[in-house]
Amino acid sequence: VTEPDLRGRHVVVSAGGTREPLDPVRFLGNRSSGKQGYALARTAAARGARVTLVSANAGLPDPAGVDVVRVGTAVQLREAVLKAAADADAVVMAAAVADFRPAVYATGKIKKRDGQDPDPIVLVRNPDILAEISADRARPGQVVVGFAAETDDVLANGRAKLARKGCDLLVVNEVGEARTFGSEENEAVVLGADGSETPVPHGPKEALADTVWDLVVRRLA
Ligand code: C5P
Repeated sequence: VTEPDLRGRHVVVSAGGTREPLDPVRFLGNRSSGKQGYALARTAAARGARVTLVSANAGLPDPAGVDVVRVGTAVQLREAVLKAAADADAVVMAAAVADFRPAVYATGKIKKRDGQDPDPIVLVRNPDILAEISADRARPGQVVVGFAAETDDVLANGRAKLARKGCDLLVVNEVGEARTFGSEENEAVVLGADGSETPVPHGPKEALADTVWDLVVRRLA
């Protein structure tokens, strides 16, 4: 039996991966499936929360009882998350947000020209939504959670990222060729700004999601 320990709370979860368009048919994207974010949304709803799921290109069915806002790019995701976060008790940024986007969008399809080298793709920085929300809490006591995928020095890089972003909790997982992306399972360590370290053994993404909500509930109390 699930405790309704998020009843009366509004939580915002971002999920999926942003796509940054180059032209009407091409984009820069990433391998995020959205499964971890959807598991967070489902488990929060099961624990009684009102849930806004800001979903970027996930291609997964809407979870029952969850408000789903669909977005494409990082800029759109920022708008939707900031709007929903205005009255939220917790914000969990599980989406893989592109750090950069193409500086120009070609309104017509980019063509290859005989005998000519392609134009380089120039990138500009996207806003860091997690850092922005953490620095500028919409309400006092709002709990902000980030995710980080690291390939090496997982804990040291995670600690540095937690400090840099200014969030309360950072879920760090080690990524490699066949790990995490698109998988049904995950393995992670949840780092707390208070110095805490909560290992989550290899298991379903729901189990990691429930551990995140346990830690959020403790901070909301
Ligand atoms: O810096 P890095 O991309 O590794 O940080 C990952 C965390 O920051 C995730 O929680 C992601 O949702 C968030 N993020 C963000 N805005 C960005 C890049 C990442 O909110 N532009």
